[in-house]
Amino acid sequence: MTPDKGSILITGASSGIGRTCALMLDRAGYQVFAGVRTLQALEELSSLAPGRIRPVMLDITDAILIRSACQTIDLRLEGKGLTALINNAGITLPGSVEFLSLEGFRRELEVNVIGHLAVTQAFLPWIRKGKGRIINVGSALGKFVMPLTGAYAASKFALEALTDSLRRELLPSGIYVSLVAPGSVESAIWDKIDAEVAQMEAGLTEEANARYGRTGESISNLWKKAHRRAIPPEAVAEVVLKILESSRPESRYPVGPDAHFLSIVGRFAPDSLVDWVVDKIVTLSRGR
Ligand SMILES: NC(=O)c1ccc[n+]([C@@H]2O[C@H](COP(=O)([O-])OP(=O)(O)OC[C@H]3O[C@@H](n4cnc5c(N)ncnc54)[C@H](OP(=O)(O)O)[C@@H]3O)[C@@H](O)[C@H]2O)c1
Repeated sequence: MTPDKGSILITGASSGIGRTCALMLDRAGYQVFAGVRTLQALEELSSLAPGRIRPVMLDITDAILIRSACQTIDLRLEGKGLTALINNAGITLPGSVEFLSLEGFRRELEVNVIGHLAVTQAFLPWIRKGKGRIINVGSALGKFVMPLTGAYAASKFALEALTDSLRRELLPSGIYVSLVAPGSVESAIWDKIDAEVAQMEAGLTEEANARYGRTGESISNLWKKAHRRAIPPEAVAEVVLKILESSRPESRYPVGPDAHFLSIVGRFAPDSLVDWVVDKIVTLSRGR
């Protein structure tokens, strides 16, 4: 199939939502530049859609790689602009705010916030040229926070704010900016969370364990439940496609029943009520 619907750059396309979006958008007729970080991911993606998807080495925290991706993509675009930039890459960092590693938190913000900002700034000239769109992949935890998810949620709240600001700044230029906020989605992220939780627990001091060990147990059980309810990544990719093909995309798209629910709770329920309910849920989830 010859791509004729325009060109899209998506970051974090080696697995999960990013990879599924890359494949679905490729099938829908877009030329997809898929950001990956390893040769293995590059080869894997090329073999899934030989000659069509164009993987590009793009670590969004690396200014040199961002510049080089701009040059590579510019050559491929042959004077045209981009139809869309999808800022999707992301990492998680579980743990209590009290004992959060500052280095880990900086990395969380570096990838989930500053990296997206850097890529957006770098590619805006091509988005302007193509009268393109920007789609940021946030999270249901961009409006609602559970205990021990402060670092990840802070990064997603920050992304919500940048998205709102950018949308209002670019409206006069006719560039739409939307945020996709998924709930639980099947992807590689769950294994990564399990590994991070295990690593965090292994590093807990006695004091930290005494204070947060039981909450950690509840949250782990809640994550396991959330993982069991996870929707397929195709559901997110379909929303991304809908945004690309809509004449007037909306500002925010929760994806999945949990995301819709948390979006309403996060915006309208009083903090005191939410605190009480969350405390009950955490208590009830112990030992399950
Ligand atoms: N899955 C869910 O339940 C869920 C729910 C809400 C929101 N989200 C969001 O959806 C997005 C995609 O997550 P996913 O669930 O598809 O997880 P995933 O399968 O773990 O994918 C994360 C992607 O981000 C990439 N990445 C990490 N650090 C990067 C960096 N510095 N530069 C460039 N790419 C980097 C990873 O590349 P490597 O393979 O090279 O590490 C991978 O391709 C994330 O923003 C996540 O927060 C996911």
